[in-house]
Amino acid sequence: MKQPNTLARARAYEAEHHTPSQARPVFHAVPPVGWCNDPNGWSVYQGRYHLFYQYHPYATVWGPMHWGHATTTDFLHWEDLPCALAPDTPMDEAGCYSGGAIQWKDQQLLLYTGVQPEGEDTIQQQCLALGDGRDYRKAPSPVILPEEQPAGASRKDFRDPYLFEEGGVLYALMGGRGFNGHGRLLLYANDHPEDPAHRWRFVQVMAENDGSLGSMWECPNLFTLDGRTVLVISPQFTRQAPDNRYHCGNDTAALIGSWQGPGTPFVRQADSPLDYGLDFYAPQTLLTPDGRRVMIGWMQNWDHCFPEEDAAWYGQMSLPRELFWQGDALCQRPVRELDAARRLRVQYTGQPVGESLLTLDGVRGRVLDCELQLHPEEARRFGIRFGCGEGRWAELRLDLEDGILRLDRRHAGGYHDLLELREVPLTPVGDLFKLRMVLDRYSAEFFLQDGQQVASMTLYNLPQEADGISFFAKGSCHIDLQLYDLAL
Ligand code: FRU
Repeated sequence: MKQPNTLARARAYEAEHHTPSQARPVFHAVPPVGWCNDPNGWSVYQGRYHLFYQYHPYATVWGPMHWGHATTTDFLHWEDLPCALAPDTPMDEAGCYSGGAIQWKDQQLLLYTGVQPEGEDTIQQQCLALGDGRDYRKAPSPVILPEEQPAGASRKDFRDPYLFEEGGVLYALMGGRGFNGHGRLLLYANDHPEDPAHRWRFVQVMAENDGSLGSMWECPNLFTLDGRTVLVISPQFTRQAPDNRYHCGNDTAALIGSWQGPGTPFVRQADSPLDYGLDFYAPQTLLTPDGRRVMIGWMQNWDHCFPEEDAAWYGQMSLPRELFWQGDALCQRPVRELDAARRLRVQYTGQPVGESLLTLDGVRGRVLDCELQLHPEEARRFGIRFGCGEGRWAELRLDLEDGILRLDRRHAGGYHDLLELREVPLTPVGDLFKLRMVLDRYSAEFFLQDGQQVASMTLYNLPQEADGISFFAKGSCHIDLQLYDLAL
């Protein structure tokens, strides 16, 4: 049995080992020390955005899961709060896994997956905690047991509740695994508004995996945007990648359709990858008071966890992104708070790019925001290198003949180059290729074609001095470019 002081120990440890801001990204959320994965409880409470996350303070690798905690008012400046949950009761002794948060009366309600040892194995059940935005009290027993699933379900894969409220009722949407081994999403309701610590009720199966998108579906999220309902899932172990839209491994997807509310079927009409890069998983969304649907994800991939030995922290969150439609495409752009921080440094108009690497005065850096429009003309290929220096770089290149985009981190200082390249089909938008690149010390995020596609990658092995940016092409073309510093 874990000691009751597990939480106090984590809080003392993180206070003592708190990483200074110079050794963190400038505007991306990371743990104060140790490891983080999934964002949890991404929500609004008492005028602040709250980010909890899967957290192991004592090492830069996954371990017994705690919930780390940070808040922000602008999505760019993060304030660390003390560790919120620790695995310190029999029902969550093997870890406090992912879940959600919501305001309930004047308190903050957390619903998370408690992992409990059972013989040689573990079971997963949903546990509740209430608090004031900083300190939380756990309900004495789980509110959703693995038995409360349709027949034949796994007791071990039953996790990651997403909390939402509709018509005054609290609901939890979670991932489970049916008898055929495939993932499915299950909806539960709380029938006791005066005391949510009562057992919750099974409502319906919201969606089932037919085997074409991975196996287990982790970390569901649900929202309606301009009349269309979106179910967000993180499928584990995808083995098919038709047309390279998805990749094999752990991926993310938006299932787009319609839903009339609890008790009615979700009608799936389309699906769309949420990120075409190398590092993105387990995203959650929230609705801001001014009506924006903002998504944040873990900017990492389970297949790419290689912390350096001397790292103080490992694992970062993506930039929060606003979701919007363009026709039927679910698009993303950085939160507008980032736009407000931009200060134009240099711009180039009609700049020719040729076969040899082109560098431009004032175009360099590892913390910046840059927009580029490519006029392809005769070009068969176009590329941009960033983080260049000391024989290292990362690269995004576009094969204009076959419409393939390549993200290439093979020369960025890692030692697993077979995992460092991804190829995806590019969505055409008129004759232009449009790109927005956001760099923040240890990462690059690309918003392509007005946000129709996004591609994220971490850059842990490029020294910060490697800040060169250059361009190359095959065949003549020219670019327009605006590069912004960020006043943060
Ligand atoms: C997804 C995930 C979740 C689980 C958590 C454990 O990345 O596997 O399903 O709750 O990580 O840390």
